[in-house]
Amino acid sequence: MMRIDIITLFPEMCEAFLGSSIIGRARKDNKIEINCHQLREFSDNKWGRVDDTPYGGGMGLVIRAEPLARCCDHVISLFPKKPHIIYFSPKGRVFSQRIAGELKDTHENLLFVCGHYEGVDQRFLDKYVDEEISIGDYVLTGGEIAAVAVADAVARLCPGVLSSDECFQDESHYCGLLEYPQYSKPSVWEGMKVPDVLMSGHHERVDRWRRDQALIITKKRRPDMFSKIIPDKSDLKSVGYLWEKSEK
Ligand code: ADE
Repeated sequence: MMRIDIITLFPEMCEAFLGSSIIGRARKDNKIEINCHQLREFSDNKWGRVDDTPYGGGMGLVIRAEPLARCCDHVISLFPKKPHIIYFSPKGRVFSQRIAGELKDTHENLLFVCGHYEGVDQRFLDKYVDEEISIGDYVLTGGEIAAVAVADAVARLCPGVLSSDECFQDESHYCGLLEYPQYSKPSVWEGMKVPDVLMSGHHERVDRWRRDQALIITKKRRPDMFSKIIPDKSDLKSVGYLWEKSEK
């Protein structure tokens, strides 16, 4: 079973997300194990302080290596085998669905470390951390949002976490495509009608329409993703114009 532990100054932030909804249910059903650890408990002073001013001067505070190392050593001892340790920062490799799959396939034990303030002592990163991950080219106030995003994306790939009706269709035959539009009741809302094909009960035509819509929206919004798609015969027959040179 996949086990993810998170070291943070704000475990309640992580628990709020990872204790609710699909991931919360999967944890209760023992499909995945997630534990959050309060870094402050590994402080060496009565105030629970874990940060200090940076050498060389400058603004902000740096989380010290000692409490981080003590906390990591403790958490590592709880894992059945040595976990893959990830630190979240804008300097890391940029997260994607591919990396989510790779993490799930290569490591059953993951340990996430969240920084806050101006970061953590470089020596801790050098000694403990296997890789740094960023969730995009912007700066957050801490690693918690990134840790929760990555934990969610990895957890939903684990067996039994999604129920059959939540299954990851976006990764099977919709792989590499943006999702087609969805509609629910009523069939007419504010004068806007649900596309006829979806009401037809004709499953093959529905599947074709959904694939076409996914191809169209991917070309429009993510030409970078679209350029990697290799159309099959049925794609070319249905929406072959998407691959014609004049179609910009
Ligand atoms: N910490 C601060 N900004 C971040 C980002 N973009 N990704 C991951 N961790 C972060």
